[in-house]
Amino acid sequence: MALPDSILLSGNLKLLEQRLQGREVYAVLDDKVKEPRLTGLFRPDHIFRIEAGEAAKRMATVEALAAKLLAAGADRDALLLGIGGGTTTDLTGLLAALYQRGVACALVPTTLLAQVDAAIGGKNGVNLEGYKNMLGTFRAPEFIYICPPLAEGADDRGGIAEMLKTFLLCDAAAYARAVVHFSAPLPRCAAERLSLIRRAVEIKSNLVEEDFLDEGPRHLLNLGHTFGHAIEKCTQGAVTHGDAVAMGIILAAETAVRLGEAEPALVERLKRDFTACGLPTESPLPREALIEAVAKDKKSREGAVRFVLPVAIGRVMVQPLKPEELR
Ligand SMILES: NC(=O)c1ccc[n+]([C@@H]2O[C@H](COP(=O)([O-])OP(=O)(O)OC[C@H]3O[C@@H](n4cnc5c(N)ncnc54)[C@H](O)[C@@H]3O)[C@@H](O)[C@H]2O)c1
Repeated sequence: MALPDSILLSGNLKLLEQRLQGREVYAVLDDKVKEPRLTGLFRPDHIFRIEAGEAAKRMATVEALAAKLLAAGADRDALLLGIGGGTTTDLTGLLAALYQRGVACALVPTTLLAQVDAAIGGKNGVNLEGYKNMLGTFRAPEFIYICPPLAEGADDRGGIAEMLKTFLLCDAAAYARAVVHFSAPLPRCAAERLSLIRRAVEIKSNLVEEDFLDEGPRHLLNLGHTFGHAIEKCTQGAVTHGDAVAMGIILAAETAVRLGEAEPALVERLKRDFTACGLPTESPLPREALIEAVAKDKKSREGAVRFVLPVAIGRVMVQPLKPEELR
């Protein structure tokens, strides 16, 4: 399986430099990204630094950045480059979709989570009233530049959770390799990391290609996210997205066991593997509180939420469940 032409995976920044030549580039840059080879690529007055994170992922940030673009003279020919973790890539994508009714966008993810998941697939968005991604669009960026060393200073946990999630859908061998890799002591093999990133991106981009608007197969990528988003909402962001997804996968596996669709040994294995990789497995909130939040999930249809449930390593099922069934 090859990567789409729009996804460039490279150990250095040379190709990025080439792609930006002759373009009117404006960079939205996560303030924690200090890589000078990266910042050296742009005019200093075309770099807009943001304090990234879930709190920044809101319409006010998009509006403030749009005002800065306007003041800097950005027009319809502008290329907006989102450089940072998933919150930066999500909100830059939305900014590019809205500014002057849409300008070109490219993404340079700098966390493992954004490299294997958030930057891939053209979903952008911001949160509203504590609910995740309530305002957003589907819009494919012109290109995504994944340079694994850029994420060296960032926490990998969220990316490990999303990567294991992706492999749990359909690739038991990659799942096992990822557990071995991420449970090994540092420093870990860079080539294996690159290979795991490539495989996760391949699987996600394949699902996206099949179902860009998330009306069918792409929904599988929500494994762990229904409970995960409920955990993020109920803890007001105190639990990070990646940790919430890890806990959400365990809750989904427990649901599969309750429904008789999976063996209890699956939950035990997932807990063992996640713990070895440094991921949490227990939600800080009781199941009942999460079910209340799940009932308000934006993807709820006729009172039922479509759950993606792991039934084995590398195999999942989709099951619509009403709150009373979850209880
Ligand atoms: N659009 C999608 O399809 C999609 C998919 C999955 C997740 N997401 C979204 O992604 C977000 C989570 O992404 P995230 O975990 O990358 O969050 P994030 O953007 O908040 O980054 C996490 C932290 O790492 C810091 N950081 C980023 N790059 C760094 C670097 N190179 N060195 C040091 N620190 C660095 C950030 O400043 C932040 O403090 C959530 O909002 C989630 O909803 C979107």
